[in-house]
Amino acid sequence: MKQKLIVGNWKMNGSLAANAALLQALKQGLPAGGKAGVAVAAPAVYLAQLQVELSGSSIGIGAQDVSQHEQGAFTGEVSAAMLKEFGVRYALVGHSERRQYHGETDAVVAAKAQAALAKGVTPIVCVGETLQEREAGQTEAVVKRQLAAVIHQVGPCVSELVVAYEPVWAIGTGKTATPEQAQAVHAVLRAQLAAATEHAGRVPLLYGGSMNAANAAQLLAQNDIDGGLVGGASLKAADFLTIVAAAQ
Ligand code: G3P
Repeated sequence: MKQKLIVGNWKMNGSLAANAALLQALKQGLPAGGKAGVAVAAPAVYLAQLQVELSGSSIGIGAQDVSQHEQGAFTGEVSAAMLKEFGVRYALVGHSERRQYHGETDAVVAAKAQAALAKGVTPIVCVGETLQEREAGQTEAVVKRQLAAVIHQVGPCVSELVVAYEPVWAIGTGKTATPEQAQAVHAVLRAQLAAATEHAGRVPLLYGGSMNAANAAQLLAQNDIDGGLVGGASLKAADFLTIVAAAQ
């Protein structure tokens, strides 16, 4: 059975003290020899803390964004090389909140994914439709368009991606996609990847959007749901550990 991957996206939450407490609880609560991969994506200012706190731990470090540039006059941005210096293994790219609030286009997201891969950081490519797009029957077209831009950009490295399907209407709303709704889109993404690489089965497809302790097991039981990208529930150790347990 393929290893599941559970990634917590802390978004713009935390403090040095709260992070230390949460990470300690996660380290103590994770089953020894657990089969699921686990990572947490923190605000960039806390990556040094995570590098220290997670040293020797099986919990991976994630960033919530990465620059598409290598270096230079890009005020406020953080390069993949810089992330690598802090032990970062994953970088979210194209999260809907960045597409919405920072105008990140499919082309920018693709460039970010390539920049991450170039430095050995695994991009977690976020795709997902808005409620309006779903109600207009455009879900498949939207997520395929978003993923196609990245596939086109990264070429043979497509098998090194992680992809997260995050229906925008389910993010932070408590309105989780049903397992059937999520599986239907994951199957579309899997087929799209299969047309680009013979290793499509190895690309983890994560679901994100109000995944919680109560619904994780049903979502993770779906054929093409290989894990979760967890927002709110990742800030509560007990809930996040329950989700990880459901992924074993
Ligand atoms: O990146 C994960 C996030 O968008 C999902 O948030 O709070 O709905 O789990 P949440």
